[in-house]
Amino acid sequence: MIAPPKPDLITVNIDGREIAVPKGTNMIEAARLLGIEIPHFCYHPKLTVAGNCRMCLVEMGLPALDPATKQPLMDPATGRPKINWVPKPTIACFTNAAPGLHIRTTTPLVKDCREGVMEFLLINHPLDCPICDQAGECKLQEQATGYGRGFSRFVERKNVKPKRTALGPRVMLDDERCILCSRCIRFCQEVAKDDVLGFVDRGSYSTLTCYPGRRLENNYSLNTVDICPVGALTSTDFRFKMRVWFLKTTPSICAESSVGVNTEVWSREGVIHRITPRRNDEVNDTWMADSGRLLYKQVAAAHRLTEAKVAGTGVPADEAVVKAADLLKRGGVAVVGSGRSSVEEQFLTRKLAETLQAPAWLVGRVGQGDGLLISADRNPNVRGALVTGLIKAIPDVGDATPPSRSSGDGGVADPAGIRVGGLASLAAQIDAGKVMAVLSVGEDLVEAGLTAAQLGKAAVVYLGTHANATSAAARVVIPALTVFEKNGTFINQQFRLQKFAAAVPGPRGVADDLVTLSRLVHAAGGPALAGEVNGLWATLAAEVRQFAAISFASLPATGLLLDPAEFAGLRFAEGETLHFKPAAGAPR
Ligand code: SF4
Ligand code: FES
Repeated sequence: MIAPPKPDLITVNIDGREIAVPKGTNMIEAARLLGIEIPHFCYHPKLTVAGNCRMCLVEMGLPALDPATKQPLMDPATGRPKINWVPKPTIACFTNAAPGLHIRTTTPLVKDCREGVMEFLLINHPLDCPICDQAGECKLQEQATGYGRGFSRFVERKNVKPKRTALGPRVMLDDERCILCSRCIRFCQEVAKDDVLGFVDRGSYSTLTCYPGRRLENNYSLNTVDICPVGALTSTDFRFKMRVWFLKTTPSICAESSVGVNTEVWSREGVIHRITPRRNDEVNDTWMADSGRLLYKQVAAAHRLTEAKVAGTGVPADEAVVKAADLLKRGGVAVVGSGRSSVEEQFLTRKLAETLQAPAWLVGRVGQGDGLLISADRNPNVRGALVTGLIKAIPDVGDATPPSRSSGDGGVADPAGIRVGGLASLAAQIDAGKVMAVLSVGEDLVEAGLTAAQLGKAAVVYLGTHANATSAAARVVIPALTVFEKNGTFINQQFRLQKFAAAVPGPRGVADDLVTLSRLVHAAGGPALAGEVNGLWATLAAEVRQFAAISFASLPATGLLLDPAEFAGLRFAEGETLHFKPAAGAPR
């Protein structure tokens, strides 16, 4: 484990209470630490300050200094430094913590400012809350209730602006709800680096739009929906599908790549309705890619495996496990693990390989990184396989030019340009007759480069979530759970151990992968290991050096950095992303 560095602290005073905060902390954030809310719309902790909504107005003061000595003047009545209060209100979002800084957030002047700003914002905002998709998470609605005057003096007609404008394939704009905070514009400029949005016209007629001939279609477009404080921007995938107060959220990790974006999965009665980013300042800030938000669709995919089969016939899962163990115990076995499996599953896969005295492979998955939140390594957990000892080297997916799907010599490219492979030596061993049975834990061996002919030469046991060429060829098929249906951990590109939780139950009758794998280990003659995550972590902490003193329950929500030193000589696929730089001198 690696401890984070300690910041420089300075003391500020908010509403008479002192707090020490890191130098330069924004005063909205400093107040938040004291449990004091400074209402705001345009401020966002991960964007530059625009200062255009004026909702965060506060009174500000600094210690008065003696002009001669430059020392603070003392107030004889209180015995404390005298404060020079600025006569006009100041926006808190553009004020950073400085030594001795004082702010007041509850005075009559501040209250009057907030009421005035709310009244102005609501002049042209439609009163369509009952049919607005933002209901339940609308900052304008919340702050009108908390800080508004409760009535309007506006008797003229409201402006009418464009409704239901598709800014791009995934984002819809209701312009009359827009409060012109410019968060979406700044996000596109500063984070997505796709300067596509802007305001046109002046005053009450200001309108958000795309530049002529452009569309909001970058792979981060849905972050504008997340940060829009009102219902102006909505997701075409989610809008009008479900009221948010019916949904529960579960912390999860995006499995799209080794960045390990922290997410929240929103579900109701076993059905997932959307995925949004979860803040982790060390990994993804408050952002995630659009493509990662769609991964939940795999849960209800039509080709989901829900029944254990032996030789194509449905059997109880226990019987399939026994048949699989019998088949694998005959010898000449190879184990293929997955970089999409959790740390716990990879540990059990290693135990199974040891029990069977079988060599283990891992399927590699390499694509183009986007320099932001999708890395070149499209497996979320290759480092888990290294740390648990399932593999010793990074899978080699072959050269830049992908070989053909039928060659079986190192990798194939899928339609998204992701190269999948790493089984070239396994293919050779099957061809040479040295491997007669293959256990695949969650990987389609054909997608990974084995040919149908090679699969025909080996008895295949497949533990997986969806039907594919491997499940079709397998002697034994055991259905498994998706990342949304189980508890576990991944180790991301920074060697950060991060946990995810089950958001929805798996299909009826499908056992947790840990249960299936631990039963397989035992049936193959190995040790009895826990088939659930908390119990298994006692074994992981005892047997894996990097996990000493760690338990699943105590793992922080933002993860724990492991020491990557022992893997420094390996050639990882990732280039630079938002909070990751490949180590200097690392092999590339
Ligand atoms: S659409 Fe939303 S995020 Fe964009 S400027 Fe308007 S209110 Fe702000
Ligand atoms: S938050 Fe909008 S001006 Fe400060």
